[in-house]
Amino acid sequence: EFHLVPKEVHFASDGPFGKFDRQQLQRGFQVYKEVCSACHSLRLVAFRDLAALGYNEAEVKAIAKGFQVPGIDPNTGEANMRPGLPTDYFPKPFANDVAARAANNNAIPPDLSLITKARHDGGPYVYSLLTGFQAQPAELLKEFPDAKTPNGLHYNPYFANLNLAMAPPLTADGQVQYGDGTKSTVDQMAKDVSAFLIWTAEPKLEKRKQTGWPVLGFLLFATVLGYMSYRSIWAEKK
Ligand code: HEM
Repeated sequence: EFHLVPKEVHFASDGPFGKFDRQQLQRGFQVYKEVCSACHSLRLVAFRDLAALGYNEAEVKAIAKGFQVPGIDPNTGEANMRPGLPTDYFPKPFANDVAARAANNNAIPPDLSLITKARHDGGPYVYSLLTGFQAQPAELLKEFPDAKTPNGLHYNPYFANLNLAMAPPLTADGQVQYGDGTKSTVDQMAKDVSAFLIWTAEPKLEKRKQTGWPVLGFLLFATVLGYMSYRSIWAEKK
């Protein structure tokens, strides 16, 4: 078996008390913006949603402005590209699927908004994929000589069919310069962008987890109340 299950990796948002680490989400966003957005869209995330990561209005405006989005020229009515506004969504980096395929060995880089929900073990999977590029093991080639990674594809044992069209996007420590003093090792950048993609797929995760506790409290209370009324109703009938 050459396909591997994801590595063990912990995220602040894990578990019943899980909360996002907003510093980490900002770092992860920076990785997305500076590296992944060259090929991957986030079509379900609007720039203004980034306020939840702790960016203020001016910062959100500046981030939006840094992306070109499809628009309409108000004078001619023709389609054009214009700087983004906070209400716009993250744009597609390629004009169309043909252009996307042409640039990526015939594969279309998937939209990443929901990738951590679409793949089993979402966060750990993305982290493992980003840190899992390696040479093909000799045993694999010995057992399946025909499985040699084709030209233009890249071997990664965390990818279901082992060879994918994405080249390792995070290759060097310091590839992204973090503003908060965190060392941007490849491992750290991979973790941070995975945390960010957990957020894009479920921005209301904290609310969901926190709502659970009062619900459990209410159910416990209702159960005790039910039991007590049962005792009281049947008390005379012994
Ligand atoms: C696929 C993440 C950067 C091109 C993927 C997948 C993920 C991902 C999660 C899906 C794998 C699957 O289907 O299970 C990322 C992240 C990036 C990044 C987090 C930044 C750190 C890039 C860049 C490019 C690119 C810069 C282009 C130069 C592709 C392509 C695929 C892909 C072509 C499809 C691969 C295939 O189906 O064979 N990426 N990516 N990615 N990515 Fe990226």
